[in-house]
Amino acid sequence: MASRTIQVEIKRQSTPDHSSVTEKFEVPYRPNMNITSLLGEIALNPTTVDGKATTPITYDSNCLEEICGSCAMLINGKARMACSALVDKLEQPIKLAPLSKFPVVRDLAVDRSVLFENLKKVKAWVPIDGTYDLGSGPRQFPQLQEELYPLSNCISCTICMEVCPQFNDATGFVGAATIAQVKLFNDNPTGRVLKEERLRALAGDGGIQECGYAQNCVAACPKQLPLTEAISDVGRDVVIQQVKDFFVR
Ligand code: SF4
Ligand code: FES
Repeated sequence: MASRTIQVEIKRQSTPDHSSVTEKFEVPYRPNMNITSLLGEIALNPTTVDGKATTPITYDSNCLEEICGSCAMLINGKARMACSALVDKLEQPIKLAPLSKFPVVRDLAVDRSVLFENLKKVKAWVPIDGTYDLGSGPRQFPQLQEELYPLSNCISCTICMEVCPQFNDATGFVGAATIAQVKLFNDNPTGRVLKEERLRALAGDGGIQECGYAQNCVAACPKQLPLTEAISDVGRDVVIQQVKDFFVR
């Protein structure tokens, strides 16, 4: 009796400028495999189903526990983390492709630096740089800590951007993850010193008004961030800031 195997089809691209091809693989089955271990198995014997020798698949991965955010890809058409996608729960052939809204670097690895550029635009950090003693920070009440904690779980996977119909070249929309970080840092007692700058950064082109409230982001986020609430709260604050700015011109 033939031993059990897993059928996989992978969309591959050798360089950013090459067109893509699909390669098919048949991988020996082991219980409890995830997509990352499946790709590792292919790397041990990179041969397609019709016997052609090929190269190991390129993909990003690091923590293997849905924390680093690097392994996002399309798995059977759905944007997911490879390390938490279990082979036993997937329909076969398992179809793997790179995220579609980001430039392909090679195979399943994409360039997601746009998220980091967007986070820089909104100054998504607490400004405490300095070599001198800054003393203790303002008090943060446990209730506020609990409220903000879910927003700090963002792993920068960019899945919310991939699934958002408004995240495209035409709108330049910054996406839900960046807006959620604006709420996190604006509500932080130390971070709020940059609140006005962050809100102004979201008032222009590509800012919060580009959101069409499709709510795909909140449904797809692997860390269940309260993205729609964050967008709605930040949207209100952006409008208030615009009114204030109008009257002090
Ligand atoms: S908000 Fe969720 S989906 Fe978006 S980058 Fe953060 S963890 Fe990923
Ligand atoms: S490898 Fe880190 S999130 Fe998947």
